[in-house]
Amino acid sequence: MNALQTKYAKDIKAILAKYPEDEKRSAVMPLLYVAQREGGYVSRQDLADIAEIIEVTPTEVASIVGFYTLYHDKPEGQYRVQVCNDLPCAMRGADAFLQGVCENLGIEVGETTKDGLVRVEAVMCLAACDKAPMFQVQDCENITYYEEQTVDSTIKLVEKWRKAGAKKK
Ligand code: FES
Repeated sequence: MNALQTKYAKDIKAILAKYPEDEKRSAVMPLLYVAQREGGYVSRQDLADIAEIIEVTPTEVASIVGFYTLYHDKPEGQYRVQVCNDLPCAMRGADAFLQGVCENLGIEVGETTKDGLVRVEAVMCLAACDKAPMFQVQDCENITYYEEQTVDSTIKLVEKWRKAGAKKK
C-alpha cells in the first residue's frame, strides 16, 4: 500500500469500486481530486502513487494534470478564486472589484497569499454575466459560484476560510 492509499484508504476504495478491475485507469480523475484535496495540488509522489494504483505510468497521470485546469502540480492556494473580468462583467465593475480584492489580500492578480490559502485569478466568461462582480471558487472538492459580490463580502469569505483552517489545526 503506497502513501496515498494509506492516507485515503476509504475514499480510494470507494472510487475504485465504481470501475471494473480492468478499467481502473478510468479512476484517474477522482483519484487526482483526492490527492489534491489537502494541499491543493498533486505532488510528484501523488502522481507515482496514482499511477501505481491504476497501473499506468506516472507520465500518463501527469498528462491529465497538465490538460485540465482543475488540477494543479504545485501549491497555488487552497482556494482558487477565479474572478470573471470578461467584457460584460467588466462593465459591471469586475476590474475594480478584482483589484480591490487583491489589494486587500496584499497580492497581485495571479498570485497566492503568503499563507497559501487563496490564489486570485482573472478568468473569461463563467456564464453569470448579469450577476457581476462574480467569481467561482475551486477548493479541491467543489466549485462554488459567488455572484453579486463586493470586496467586503469577498474578504469576509476569505476570513471565514482562514478561521475554518485555523480550527482544523
Ligand atoms: S462575462 Fe463574466 S460571467 Fe460572462
